[in-house]
Amino acid sequence: MITINEVTKTYPLGKGNSVTALHGVSLKIKKGEFMTIIGRSGSGKTTLLNLAAGLTRPTSGKILLDGTDLWKLTDQQQSHMRSQKFGFVFQFPSLLPALTVQDNVILPTVFGKKQEPAQMHERAIQLLKKVGLEDKLEAYPRQLSAGQQQRVVIARALMNQPQLLLADEPTSNLDEKTELEIMELFRDLHTSMGITIMMVTHTRQLVSYGTRAIEMANGEIANGH
Ligand SMILES: Nc1ncnc2c1ncn2[C@@H]1O[C@H](COP(=O)(O)OP(=O)(O)O)[C@@H](O)[C@H]1O
Ligand SMILES: [Mg+2]
Repeated sequence: MITINEVTKTYPLGKGNSVTALHGVSLKIKKGEFMTIIGRSGSGKTTLLNLAAGLTRPTSGKILLDGTDLWKLTDQQQSHMRSQKFGFVFQFPSLLPALTVQDNVILPTVFGKKQEPAQMHERAIQLLKKVGLEDKLEAYPRQLSAGQQQRVVIARALMNQPQLLLADEPTSNLDEKTELEIMELFRDLHTSMGITIMMVTHTRQLVSYGTRAIEMANGEIANGH
């Protein structure tokens, strides 16, 4: 699905200084796998995830999505590809406070191909059932716990039927019990819906939820090539 080939990422820091976050990393993400990425803070995990999602441009090397180089497309084609092929879940739930749970989940369809409103609502309800929040459709984010909010974010990430779900430390803000519940949810999405998942975590025990583990150290893949 995604081929990362000899990718280097250097961030300029001004005054001629720079930091190299990735040193020639190569990695293939295959359809249907649940990849976990662990490693210390600063090891390049987020950079790798953002490169895979086409959110960050590589300094050198290539990233191919189903054989297409995202960075050779026009801006419009790129954003279309991102919104249609990827779903994102970050560390802190990012819901719009003025919208209900259901409307937050429907939001990504605004940027995609036109869909029937009735169909969108039906799909949002199905996804909210899937994440165990069918009784919160009309609630507002502030009325939900952190774990429930993260479930809404996961439902929202699935709204456009993405090929790949990218999650950057999605449970690091949660207590241990809620963390395990969210991990069970990811496992269920992977097995029952066949979704390909790439997840960064700082907790080594969570690696067992995935089908493949990668460990990053100092901007390189130290383990699990
Ligand atoms: N936007 C940025 N600008 C400058 N430096 C960055 C930026 N993003 C990340 N870095 C640096 O790149 C390195 C890797 O960061 P990151 O990919 O966020 O690692 P991780 O997610 O494993 O903590 C770190 O040294 C970090 O400070
Ligand atoms: Mg990070």
